[in-house]
Amino acid sequence: MSRSDKHILVVSAIRPRHMEELAAKYELHRWDQASDKDAFLANVADRITALVSTAGVGVPTELIGKLPNLKVITSFGVGYDAIDIAACTARGIRVSNTPDVLNDDVADTAIMLLLATLRRLVVGDHWARSGQWSEKGAMPLTTTARGKKLGIVGLGRIGQAIASRAEPIGMEIGYFGRSKKPVDYHYEADLIGLANWADVLMVSCPGGTATQGIINADVLKALGPRGFVINIARGSVIDEPALIAALRDGVIAGAGLDVFHNEPHMERAFAGFDNVVLYPHNASGTVETRDAMAQMVVDNLTQWFADGTLVSPVN
Ligand code: 8YV
Repeated sequence: MSRSDKHILVVSAIRPRHMEELAAKYELHRWDQASDKDAFLANVADRITALVSTAGVGVPTELIGKLPNLKVITSFGVGYDAIDIAACTARGIRVSNTPDVLNDDVADTAIMLLLATLRRLVVGDHWARSGQWSEKGAMPLTTTARGKKLGIVGLGRIGQAIASRAEPIGMEIGYFGRSKKPVDYHYEADLIGLANWADVLMVSCPGGTATQGIINADVLKALGPRGFVINIARGSVIDEPALIAALRDGVIAGAGLDVFHNEPHMERAFAGFDNVVLYPHNASGTVETRDAMAQMVVDNLTQWFADGTLVSPVN
């Protein structure tokens, strides 16, 4: 197959250096940059066999329907909840993601948010910067992580990387998931049970319809007024209005959040809470990890065009 036979639709771009590499090898069609997307598509749709996107943007299902010869979607990110995998499989379209290379940075971010929330890092930073320290003296005391129970919702690869970091901090680990795993951690077969048991609920399961809103008002009530929620998974996993009400009414003690409904237009109510630490969906956002993720997209496409297989297939 020559370069001119390899037409890729770019729905969301990856790292600049990797985009240059793709542009040198393939015919790239920058749907992401087109102002009139329908007119743009009318010219190229029949030629597109591959598509590049990112987990944050995903792939609109109606766009897939407009690409009759699409064979492969290579997505930048581990989560693929913004791609209709069932629709792709039904059409014989293969999908790849970028697992594992981001586990360490995402798990580090989970611990960073956990400690920042319990130890009130942002409040302390403001206390020092604003001069309150010299005016009022020491900041109010905070909560230790040591000896606390960490309830992990979804003990997958990222959940296990979080557990292995929380153990040396002195936390007891428990988890909830579809099945009991061969680990020594405490297992709860239902989410309310885990929330009752835990001091800190760590959300690290995939997004999508199966987990939509599972952290609801009842789970937050079970976690209780001394409990904290940390979310590095997807905003959709938490019933956001219920979380805002719980933070406002003291139903829980605080939250550390990397993900939200309707990103990047975060619900402004979160900005008003001093018991919340916010991060703008940046858990995998280091130069090193984003480069490794972009390389996986490149590698998936190389392998796909070489022999029709994928390095990290989803379906
Ligand atoms: C995204 C993510 O890759 O991997 C995921 O599932 O959510 C992130 O790492 C990033 O937001 C770019 O879309």
